[in-house]
This record gives sequence, structure tokens and C-alpha cells, in this order.
Amino acid sequence: MRTTRSVAEIVPTHIVREGGGFKVRRPYRMGRVLSPFLLIDEMGPVDYGPGEALGAPWHPHRGFETVTYLLDGRMRHEDSAGNSGELNPGDVQWMTAGRGIIHCEEPHREFLKTGGRTHGFQIWVNLPSSHKMMEPRYQEVPSTESPIVEQDGVWARVIAGECMGTTSSIDTKIPITLIHVKMESESRLVQQLQADLNGMIYVFTGEINLENEITVKKNPIAFGIGAKQVIQDGELALLSEGEEILIESQEGAEFLILAGPELNEPIERYGPFVMNTKEEIHQAFMDYQNGTLTS
Ligand code: FE2
Repeated sequence: MRTTRSVAEIVPTHIVREGGGFKVRRPYRMGRVLSPFLLIDEMGPVDYGPGEALGAPWHPHRGFETVTYLLDGRMRHEDSAGNSGELNPGDVQWMTAGRGIIHCEEPHREFLKTGGRTHGFQIWVNLPSSHKMMEPRYQEVPSTESPIVEQDGVWARVIAGECMGTTSSIDTKIPITLIHVKMESESRLVQQLQADLNGMIYVFTGEINLENEITVKKNPIAFGIGAKQVIQDGELALLSEGEEILIESQEGAEFLILAGPELNEPIERYGPFVMNTKEEIHQAFMDYQNGTLTS
């Protein structure tokens, strides 16, 4: 019999300012209980007037990956290795900083001029110690090439992992699931997840219910037979262990499903560097200062 995942804990979000001052909605306690995700930032949604859009000017990274997924707006990026490009709605940029990259992430010049809505995500995925100093790489998936699956009122973009039989093309060093799901009212999704991965769901529109057969049987007093657990807009739900998630939405919802392994390694983090020891952080700063971070 398959084990159904239930909500183990709800982590609320708060608004913080990042980069050049843009607002993001971020769950509390990132980086400690949510291995391997160091950060889940929802950028906006925010409506900028002409000349107002903000970005993140030149800054370094080492030891992890940044995943940028745009829903609205237009961004431009450039890095120390000479790469540059733009991100439009539906595009994904999976950037592995590895041993080092220095980049800027800013609104596109045209978008800055006209203003408009910006909405999206930046997610930081930790790398295991064996890959922290790997060669930096980019995997860019434009919206037109993105694996999308649609079935019975459920739409999903499979950024990493698998959903409803559709698999992502992104290559990851550790097994990662990252899926953007939109559910129409009165729809239902059964999502399979590898049992040994940490699983979580971040809702950013509407609300969903998790049906949890096992939890109900094990703990009828806490949840009541047939009870459902609700995850609302702006909540990150950490899930219990199990092989599948039974999700339903009464009124419709939009959310991310995330999963990845427990790395079980010490995390030393300072600003844009995420390593295992203080010495490695110190080394990253030294390398950045003397210009050898990326070489
Ligand atoms: Fe960055």
C-alpha cells in the first residue's frame, strides 16, 4: 500500500527586500529544515511604473544553484563568463554557480522604460559538498520548450522531476522536483514523489487541501476521519514522508511542488556563498577579493 504524505508543518511567509530593493515573499526558517532548498523567494507580484523596476546588480555566488522562473515581466542577465540572455514569462534559468560566478539580474531595458507587472520565483538549491566546486553551468528552458502537461482541470509545468507522466529535461546532481501547478476549481491531482525525499508545497494563489489517508487512520483524534489539511496562499507546507500527495482544490489554486534529498551536511552561509565550513566561506571571500572566484 502506498503511503500518503500529509502536512507536517505550515511555515508562514514574510516580505523582505532583496537585491536592489525589490520585494519578495519568503518563508521563514529557510536553509535549516528544508534541505536542499536554501531559499524560496516569490518576487512580487508587483506593478512597476516607467523607470521603477528593480533588479540585483553584479554579485557573486559559490556552492549552490539559483533557479529563476518568471511568470510576468522581462528580465536580463549577464555574467562573468560572458553569458547573457533574457527571461520572459514561462522561461526557466537553472544556474549552477558551482565554484563561482559573478552575475547581474536586472529588468530588461525595454521593460524598465515601460514598467509593468513582475512576478516570479528565485529558488536556491544547495549542492552536496562533492559538487560545490563544480564547473559553473546554465540550463535555460524557454517557455516554448518547457514540458507542460494538462489533465482534468490540472495544468503543470515540469521544471524538474516528473508530473502526470511528463518529465523535465533539466539535469540535476541530486534528485530535485520542482513543478508549477494550476488547478481549476473542483480538481484533483495525485503526485508521486520518491519516498526518501523531503517534500513541500508553496501556495501562491487560492488554497488546496491534502487528503491524508494514513495520517487520518493513525491519528483520528487530531484530524478526524476523512478530514483534510488546508494549505493557503502564502504558506509553505512541509510534508511528512510518503510516496504520493493527494491534492484537491475547491476554488482553484496555483502552487509549487518541491522535493529533494536531505543532504545531512553542515551549512555555512554568508550572503551569496553557501559552503560546508567557515574556512570555505573565508576562502570564497578571499577568492572574490583577489579576482579568482571564477577561475
Ligand atoms: Fe544572483
